[in-house]
Amino acid sequence: MKAPVIARTRADLVTLLADKRAAGPVVLVPTMGALHEGHASLVRLARERAGGDGTVVVSVFVNPLQFGPNEDLDRYPRTFDADLELCGREGADVVFAPTVEEMYPGEPQVTVDPGPTADVLEGRTRPGHFRGVLTVVAKLFGLVGPDVAIFGEKDYQQLVLIRQLVADLCISGSRGALEIVGAPTDRETDGLARSSRNRYLDPEQRRQAAALSRVLHAARRDATYGVEAALDAARAELRTADGVDLDYFEIRSPDLTELPADPAQIGPGTPARALIAARVGITRLIDNLALTIGGPTTQDPPEGSN
Ligand code: PAF
Repeated sequence: MKAPVIARTRADLVTLLADKRAAGPVVLVPTMGALHEGHASLVRLARERAGGDGTVVVSVFVNPLQFGPNEDLDRYPRTFDADLELCGREGADVVFAPTVEEMYPGEPQVTVDPGPTADVLEGRTRPGHFRGVLTVVAKLFGLVGPDVAIFGEKDYQQLVLIRQLVADLCISGSRGALEIVGAPTDRETDGLARSSRNRYLDPEQRRQAAALSRVLHAARRDATYGVEAALDAARAELRTADGVDLDYFEIRSPDLTELPADPAQIGPGTPARALIAARVGITRLIDNLALTIGGPTTQDPPEGSN
């Protein structure tokens, strides 16, 4: 295991990458640290994409701009030594870990307007969240100049918005197009999506939290009979979910626009996405799953299929 080089400043990062860029692709995995096995799979994928000659950069930065005033910025887990060890184990070359002052030397005057996709789902409960996410991601793209950037599908709305950011602002990598890769959600054996926030759950809450994935899988199972059937299946599963305080459960198109209101307009085999957010205790959890409306029950659509 080779220890990654740590860059603490923007200038160090830019200098480090200037030497490496010619050798092969630069692949970026943006994170807020508190890395777990889900992140490990992202870094592994980054290593594969970069190949032996390319460079894998993992950023570790808890971005204050994406937290609301009543959110968990102060108590967000910070585990830098363990993060560094995971990055080394999975083959990262560079860990960029700036301070808040380094990333935001002053109050930012220009931020990214995330547009209407940010007003639904997470955006309704967390106003300003996606402005903060897209602003820091745009800064990371500017500093790293990646050819490929990898994000987990677990934060599905974030992934959709990052794709829109790159397309609408014509952001490119150092040698052409910037490819945004969505990596499948990594799950515990009972289906719970891995998340840095899972560590807030006590054992009873941890058991209750598995209901989110059961709700999504029930919807996926019954989507073969149409959207209403999928929603009914989700509602039935939610009724049995103790300790789960639902924020939303929705089924939308893969680009997060609404599905047609008239079920007759949703043809068999229509791809869709089911998304859920709920509190378990004081911990807010999110998850999502690809569905096929009127599609076959026998085969699960692959996670990254839409
Ligand atoms: O998904 C995350 O961890 C964060 O939202 C990101 C993309 C690193 C931006 O701070």
